[in-house]
Amino acid sequence: MTDAENPVAGIEVASVDRALMTTRAVRLRLDLERPVDHQLILDCIDVAEQAPSGGNQGSRRWIVVRDRAIKERLAELYMESAGRWMVEARDRVAGTGHPNERVMASAAHLAEHLAEVPAIIIPTIIGVHDGSGRPGLFDSVIQSVWSFCVAARARGLGTAWTTAVLSRSDDIAELLGIPDGMTQIAMIPVAWTKGTEFKTAPRYPAREITYVDGFARTWESGPSDPPCHADGPGCVVEVDIKAPPAAVWPYLTDISFGARFSEEFVGARWADGDEPDGQPGGPAVGATFIGSNSHPAIGEWEVPCFVTHCEEPREFGWASADADNPGARWRFEASSIAGATRLRFSMIIGPGPSGITAAIESMPDKEPRILFRRIDEHRANMTKVVEGIKAEVEAGRVDGDRSGTAPPLST
Ligand SMILES: Cc1cc2nc3c(=O)[nH]c(=O)nc-3n(C[C@H](O)[C@H](O)[C@H](O)COP(=O)(O)O)c2cc1C
Repeated sequence: MTDAENPVAGIEVASVDRALMTTRAVRLRLDLERPVDHQLILDCIDVAEQAPSGGNQGSRRWIVVRDRAIKERLAELYMESAGRWMVEARDRVAGTGHPNERVMASAAHLAEHLAEVPAIIIPTIIGVHDGSGRPGLFDSVIQSVWSFCVAARARGLGTAWTTAVLSRSDDIAELLGIPDGMTQIAMIPVAWTKGTEFKTAPRYPAREITYVDGFARTWESGPSDPPCHADGPGCVVEVDIKAPPAAVWPYLTDISFGARFSEEFVGARWADGDEPDGQPGGPAVGATFIGSNSHPAIGEWEVPCFVTHCEEPREFGWASADADNPGARWRFEASSIAGATRLRFSMIIGPGPSGITAAIESMPDKEPRILFRRIDEHRANMTKVVEGIKAEVEAGRVDGDRSGTAPPLST
């Protein structure tokens, strides 16, 4: 929506979105020299207090730490809880091109300079989570603290959501006289930012992580009412694997591996002519393999598959049937999460014809049902495949190239 289309007077969509989308974890660019007026922080807290809370109970209490001696003690606790580890991790990965190199440099910088930050906010809430599922605790404070961060950003102040020090919350409670029965939520350094330009961060596009009317169901466009083949229906399965992406990669490019687990996919071979110098073909963008399948209703069939994505160790994808008008598109993505791998396997039906086209043409009124049934079948088989990969990798049957393996780093 553009600002011109916005029916809400006084709210500029572009400005609100910009503040929301550029509220980064600011650590390296905190201005440690310029004092922050207390009223400015109170203004941000007034904004934040408009956030919802369970039962409409105003149970949030905010502690602003400004005293240098208290900040120094907090900095010590931070250093002991995770800061030292952050500094070591930064020094270990510095200059290596490690995916977490920048975030560790930033995290370590904060750890080393926390006492110099003009104000440190510790948001707390009255209550202790008892696991009962009652609303009113974390679920009544997190949204408010994030509002604080965005309100601060809009005023030129930088914040960083940190929780590492909460492992020392007993010491923090003693330091600040926080009574029993309160929960500390985060520790937020606040300072003017050095420069005011902050970028949006790379994130999944909404369509890839938003499911309609059921978990894991995606739509490349629309969906129309009723949903149809042209909307690009698809699904996603994900699994976390206790190994780095490099150890997962050989399974993603072993084109027959999934046949061990899928009830439909029987096997695959690299196509003739894709074997340079007589070596086994693929995996490479543009390579072709032939997949064999078997389905009780569709029968047995072979389909050419064209490699569309191949970036070791991150991404392997292919289009089936016709490279220019695929019957379906498939993609593995392996991302590094704290030394482990999140493996994501997604597929989109169409836009070209496939095994369900004849069924849709003969029963057009049943198109949504046919699509959903097919998606559910794919999802079940894809789940078996990623679970199979997880089991094999974690059993250590293929070690992969572990050189450059990411050590477990997260903040
Ligand atoms: C629950 C949570 C805990 C975090 N804890 C820390 C922390 O202890 N120390 C730190 O430096 N950053 C911490 N962060 C900040 C993340 O590292 C940061 O959000 C991430 O690197 C992405 O950067 P961005 O927020 O600028 O997109 C935390 C973030 C969240 C959401």
